[in-house]
Amino acid sequence: MTAQDEYASGTLTTEAGAPVADNQNTETAGVGGPLLFQDQYLFEKLAHFNRERIPERVVHARGAGAYGTFTVTGDVTKYTKAKFLSEIGKQTEVFLRFSTVAGSLGSADAVRDPRGFAVKFYTEEGNYDLVGNNTPVFFIKDASKFPDFIHTQKRDPYTGSQEADNVWDFWGLSPESTHQVTWLHGDRGIPASYRHMDGFGSHTYQWMNAEGDYVWVKYHFKTDQGIKNLTAEEADVLAGKDPDSHQRDLREAIERGEFPSWTVSVQIMTPEQAKTYRFNPFDLTKVWSQKDFPRIEIGKLELNRNPENIFAEVEQAIFSPAHFVPGIGPSPDKMLQGRLFAYADAHRYRVGVNADHLPVNQPHATIAKTHGRDGAMYDGRHGRAKNYEPNSFGGPSQTGERLWAQIPVQGTAGNHAAPLHAEDNDFVQAGNLYRLMSEEEKARLINNLANAIAGVSKDREDIVARAINNFRQADEEYGARLEAAVKERRAGL
Ligand code: HEM
Repeated sequence: MTAQDEYASGTLTTEAGAPVADNQNTETAGVGGPLLFQDQYLFEKLAHFNRERIPERVVHARGAGAYGTFTVTGDVTKYTKAKFLSEIGKQTEVFLRFSTVAGSLGSADAVRDPRGFAVKFYTEEGNYDLVGNNTPVFFIKDASKFPDFIHTQKRDPYTGSQEADNVWDFWGLSPESTHQVTWLHGDRGIPASYRHMDGFGSHTYQWMNAEGDYVWVKYHFKTDQGIKNLTAEEADVLAGKDPDSHQRDLREAIERGEFPSWTVSVQIMTPEQAKTYRFNPFDLTKVWSQKDFPRIEIGKLELNRNPENIFAEVEQAIFSPAHFVPGIGPSPDKMLQGRLFAYADAHRYRVGVNADHLPVNQPHATIAKTHGRDGAMYDGRHGRAKNYEPNSFGGPSQTGERLWAQIPVQGTAGNHAAPLHAEDNDFVQAGNLYRLMSEEEKARLINNLANAIAGVSKDREDIVARAINNFRQADEEYGARLEAAVKERRAGL
């Protein structure tokens, strides 16, 4: 009998399993009298209802997920010893959660916003989480700016709404955002569905092989469904008509047996190449040119099973950039380093200290054997096993094998800006992206940006000027066209 059948029939009970006599009428003192305190069933029902929500994710609150399979199609054993990548044809179960970033849990799917692309690989060496986006770059390059950035994307403390003033003030004063802001207001800024967009690991990560040699790596997930986007006008209508459009599309496609898939590839850079590469390879606002570092295909990711229970499996799902497996590790990317802390901290607050033990989050192809114990909702899985080390009772022990390679560091400890390589500045890749666009794409980009910037308060021309100046520095024509378009829209203010 499935859980669904088990719970869908028979006698209605209390949380403790005792039969419920009346689920329609509460106990009262006489007919028409006040409620009786002894009706604990009513209190249990109301109290449980009051506690149905957990805090939503502070970002990426709105999302949808599905299970699937990752299949290796390329031999990468010379780069990494990760077992799930060890053999062509090898399959690993995955869970993928897509999301938008800024909106709250109940917000609409069809909005201009990056999309989260968080993959959990249930490997035999533990869970490997790759918590990326549908964009290869990000707005900022230092973790300390993340809370400030997100504050500008969320509701203003006074007005309670997202404010164009805050958004453009922050972006104008953070010129490193120009690349991602260009990306976001271009054609790919509003994907038609989660199935019709690419995914990226975005950060640079480390791969280490069995000999202890390491390389730097970037992940790409190319949609096999083809890229499809919405125009701003289409999205406005869809967001109002069907706020759940992306979530519904994903679930229904899987129900129809149309399993979405992505071709997975990596770019590889050696430590020697990293030293002299023209862009800082650990700067999240930059891509590695695919001419310099062509993509190497490594696998296929397919989604083929819907979660049965959204709260249990999607709302309570946790992903952490710090969930590595042997042979894969972090790079010195300052954003990634901050993220290594932030996620598990969020999980303990949002889901609880035993979040890792929930069915969607626990390893599926191995067992987690820690000396960590107890805490809220501990299920006692360790029985009487000793909870300390060293012990002489045969407890689990460390491997003594390095998980990832040590890297050389130099200089003084302190607050340093990201080092600049030969061609690094905040604008060069934004300008390149603009110049790659067709005339029609450029026109749509200018239109989207101008509409957004035009929303800045009338008396804050300084915010408008700073924002436009960033695009001008990326490309003179880009800035000039944008300035004219914004002026036109603000003329009537
Ligand atoms: C220092 C920068 C960042 C910080 C501090 C940060 C922090 C967070 C936090 C606290 C959450 C909520 C986690 C939870 O409650 O389960 C989250 C979710 C998420 N973040 Fe970040 N984030 C950062 C940058 C990024 C970047 C650069 C990306 C993508 C390249 C990204 C992708 C995601 C995704 C996809 C989720 C949703 C995961 C899920 O589906 O549960 N974040 N982030």
